[in-house]
Amino acid sequence: MVKRNFTKAAVIGGTSEIALSIIKNLPSLETVWLVGRDETRLNVAADSLKVAEIKVLAGDISSGDGITCLASRLPEDLDLVIIAQGMLRPSAADGGYGDLDDMIRVNLAGPCFWMDTLVRMYEHIPCRICVISSVAGDRGRASNYLYGMTKSGLSAYSEGLASSLFQRGALCRITLLKPGLVATRMTADRTDMRLAAGCDSVGRSAARALMAGRETVYVPGWWRFVMFAVRCLPDFIFHHIRA
Ligand SMILES: NC(=O)c1ccc[n+]([C@@H]2O[C@H](COP(=O)([O-])OP(=O)(O)OC[C@H]3O[C@@H](n4cnc5c(N)ncnc54)[C@H](OP(=O)(O)O)[C@@H]3O)[C@@H](O)[C@H]2O)c1
Repeated sequence: MVKRNFTKAAVIGGTSEIALSIIKNLPSLETVWLVGRDETRLNVAADSLKVAEIKVLAGDISSGDGITCLASRLPEDLDLVIIAQGMLRPSAADGGYGDLDDMIRVNLAGPCFWMDTLVRMYEHIPCRICVISSVAGDRGRASNYLYGMTKSGLSAYSEGLASSLFQRGALCRITLLKPGLVATRMTADRTDMRLAAGCDSVGRSAARALMAGRETVYVPGWWRFVMFAVRCLPDFIFHHIRA
């Protein structure tokens, strides 16, 4: 398989630890745009990278108007965009309508609108869009089905759009990244981290998969088999799982 080296990338949710770890493992990058909601945090993230040129774009990354405005400031020749923003509220919708609304806006509606906008901009160039979903979207579990619902929708949207790009012969392609539990800021207050992967190894594996042009990527890779088994479990067994 031919290995692709990326030179110009953007990260939406530019402070994400997983996305920054992927960027650190792409050796040929010359320019990176970090796009997010908080300029101070984006500048701290920029200082952690060793890339020749880093630009920071701050604004609303989850609303249609905000996304349109930020996207118009990106260059016309990006070869990689990572859509990484996401929030984890453990409760279900009974946490109140606010949680449901925030999670759908940040984890699902915003990333889907970013994908559409980026495809319109880069359909005719070999740009790879990497969408960070989660194994949590593969089957709704009792412990986190609000988060799982947003990631399930994101995975389905991304898979459909990827097929549509393939069918119309677009040069732009999509990689759907499905991490399992990863030790980052997002999971810092969790106690059940036995199955958690380190952020560095996840970034390394994801970067390798992107350079190889892979389309659906579980990180670490063994989650593909675990989630296959989980999806196959009959309901009367699945309902007993408390994880
Ligand atoms: N860590 C895991 O176990 C795990 C597993 C599977 C999938 N994922 C997914 O991987 C992606 C990156 O997560 P991470 O682990 O790298 O966590 P992270 O370091 O906490 O990054 C989360 C990103 O989302 C942004 N964000 C959070 N709430 C936001 C809001 N309300 N509006 C706009 N942006 C918001 C954050 O920006 P600020 O800096 O401004 O807060 C940050 O850029 C997420 O999509 C997450 O769902 C994570």
